[in-house]
Amino acid sequence: MKPIGKVLCATGLLVGFLAYYWQDPFDPESLVGARVLLTGASAGIGEQMAYHYARFGAELVLTARREAVLQKVMEKCLTLGAKKVFLIPADMSSPSEPERVVEFAVQKLGGLDYLVLNHIGANRFQMWAGDVEFTRWLMQVNFFSYVALATAALPTLEKSNGSLVVVSSLAGKIATPFTTSYSATKFALDGFFSSLRHELMMQKKNVSVTLCILGLIDTESAMESTRGKVHIPASPASEAALAIISGGATRVQQVFYPWKLKQVYYLWVLAPSNEVLQSYYNYSSP
Ligand SMILES: NC(=O)c1ccc[n+]([C@@H]2O[C@H](COP(=O)([O-])OP(=O)(O)OC[C@H]3O[C@@H](n4cnc5c(N)ncnc54)[C@H](OP(=O)(O)O)[C@@H]3O)[C@@H](O)[C@H]2O)c1
Ligand SMILES: *[C@@H]1O[C@H](CO)[C@@H](O)[C@H](O)[C@H]1NC(C)=O
Ligand SMILES: *[C@@H]1O[C@H](CO)[C@@H](O)[C@H](O)[C@H]1NC(C)=O
Ligand SMILES: *[C@@H]1O[C@H](CO)[C@@H](O)[C@H](O)[C@H]1NC(C)=O
Repeated sequence: MKPIGKVLCATGLLVGFLAYYWQDPFDPESLVGARVLLTGASAGIGEQMAYHYARFGAELVLTARREAVLQKVMEKCLTLGAKKVFLIPADMSSPSEPERVVEFAVQKLGGLDYLVLNHIGANRFQMWAGDVEFTRWLMQVNFFSYVALATAALPTLEKSNGSLVVVSSLAGKIATPFTTSYSATKFALDGFFSSLRHELMMQKKNVSVTLCILGLIDTESAMESTRGKVHIPASPASEAALAIISGGATRVQQVFYPWKLKQVYYLWVLAPSNEVLQSYYNYSSP
């Protein structure tokens, strides 16, 4: 190769490297007064997101099933600096709830800038045992309710050039053991919302769609359901929450957290190995 070729090649690699690692800088100021509807806000990553948004001065509507727990999260948000916080208890396994929740939020906040879809139905981390009804129920909670919430919120998000933020998992990009139904719901989210993103762009509608791909996070529910079953270190929920918020605010298409998950994913795409993947899971036959 001629010297000029080497230089061009090196420059190309450098540019590629920078493009790969460059993230839009996140400015917390952009969230002052932002109107946010957050689901799954009573526990885990959702609860941590509520606290970050509160510190950044956002206006919040929090939803989940347990009213008493939401009340406590709301009180803490107010002490952290949130100007307005409202809560609405709702069970997302009921098909009529998404619309009611969005109507409530739009009415209380006078519109929406962020719809953050984060709730999930209680997960079973176990071998497929044939419970088709459970899969149907989980699809309703983890997928159909997301579609209905987003659909109800789109008109108001279009008015504000707002953002849809969808919380998913590595199990929604790579199928992993013990997650049959959960994985299915998360793959479905990728299909639906990545297609919707194309359509919004083609129609020049300025609503961003951010899909968040998380690894194992140290929430109570995840730690309990995976105990003794995976050999993967868990990352902190508060950091995961911040990564989601920052990705939504900078309008990126995909967020990977922890950051090395991006390499894990692309390594899998380039050189998948079932043996290596399965070695992270503990299966002791009965
Ligand atoms: N933790 C992880 O390792 C991990 C890894 C990858 C991706 N993620 C994703 O991160 C997100 C949050 O996970 P997490 O670990 O923080 O979950 P979590 O701690 O179990 O919290 C789930 C939230 O959803 C609410 N919820 C449960 N069932 C509901 C229902 N039927 N209707 C409405 N709300 C309901 C819960 O509140 P109520 O009980 O009060 O309803 C709670 O606020 C999920 O999308 C999950 O897939 C998590
Ligand atoms: C939304 O973005 C459009 C351009 O895409 C701009 O013309 C309009 O003023 C923006 N509206 C708001 C409320 O920011
Ligand atoms: C879309 O809206 C965002 C947020 O208001 C704004 O920063 C951006 O410039 C808009 N993009 C276009 C193409 O108008
Ligand atoms: C693997 O699972 C078995 C049975 O559930 C359990 O006894 C064992 O402690 C687990 N091994 C590890 C390394 O977690």
